[in-house]
Amino acid sequence: MNNLSKKYGDTVAVNGISFGLSKGEVFAFLGPNGAGKTTTVEILECLRAPTGGQAKVLDYDVSKRSDQSEIRKRIGVLPQDFNAIDRLTVRENIDYFGAMYDHQLDSDQLIELVDLKDKRDEQFKTLSGGLKQRVGLAVALVNDPALVFLDEPTTGLDPRARRDVWYVIERLKKQGKTVFLTTHYMDEAEYLADTVSIIDHGQIIASGTPNELIDAHGGKKTLVIREAGEDGLKFLPPGISRPQLKNEDDIYIPLNNGELTTILIAIGQTPLANKEIEVRRPTLDDVFLNLTGRRVSEEGE
Ligand SMILES: Nc1ncnc2c1ncn2[C@@H]1O[C@H](COP(=O)(O)OP(=O)(O)O)[C@@H](O)[C@H]1O
Ligand SMILES: [Mg+2]
Repeated sequence: MNNLSKKYGDTVAVNGISFGLSKGEVFAFLGPNGAGKTTTVEILECLRAPTGGQAKVLDYDVSKRSDQSEIRKRIGVLPQDFNAIDRLTVRENIDYFGAMYDHQLDSDQLIELVDLKDKRDEQFKTLSGGLKQRVGLAVALVNDPALVFLDEPTTGLDPRARRDVWYVIERLKKQGKTVFLTTHYMDEAEYLADTVSIIDHGQIIASGTPNELIDAHGGKKTLVIREAGEDGLKFLPPGISRPQLKNEDDIYIPLNNGELTTILIAIGQTPLANKEIEVRRPTLDDVFLNLTGRRVSEEGE
């Protein structure tokens, strides 16, 4: 993508974004609701024309009519509000969508991949949200695509169902597929993605591996001493960065370089040594907060 943009009337949904994916990687496009994720994905899927800039998918140009059909043949798509045909079974749905392509993968193999063997003869409408998403993943893979777009594949699912979808995505990665994932879940990006771009108000505000983003924008690590109480504060060595009491009696200390050892040695002979002690690394949540001043979760669903 090169300086890609999309306006809907006066709304600038995508505002000059440029980036690329490497073959075989899981890429996460991470951002709050309304950031421009779906619009970007829809442009790459040739469902919408960009207002400006260029984009190529697998070396084909999304703005060239003759290239669009080549792109569609070679990509897999799980749209944001995926729905299959209610009254068909899992297997019938996969066969149905597969028949739209010249070349389709074996349905049983796909059912195995998304772990739906027990459900293959159940009607789509009877399935839970998580199982429906796994049918969606199978449908997205039915033409054996090199590149798969998954638009918010776990939004609205319970934690267990989200994990199950994650396992399927990990399997796709092992098969060498390139995965373009959008999500507003920080933990999802951190767990699955090789590289992440954070999008906000139609612009990319940071890109890198999760670790690079956390190192660059996450802020300090924190030493947490559980249930130490206000009394515990007096055992801390003088001169360390401001300790804070949180959750009533947990001590939180933002760590400067080298301070961890100093503190641990100093409290080694005090009652604090018997407390539960942990070092907390910042997360992508902290990255987003530091870059925007907001938490993604504040935006609502
Ligand atoms: N079809 C549309 N017509 C008009 N505005 C739209 C349309 N689709 C999205 N938008 C607007 O474009 C912006 C980006 O939306 P979207 O790409 O759906 O973001 P995301 O997927 O990150 O939630 C939002 O302000 C949204 O309201
Ligand atoms: Mg969206």
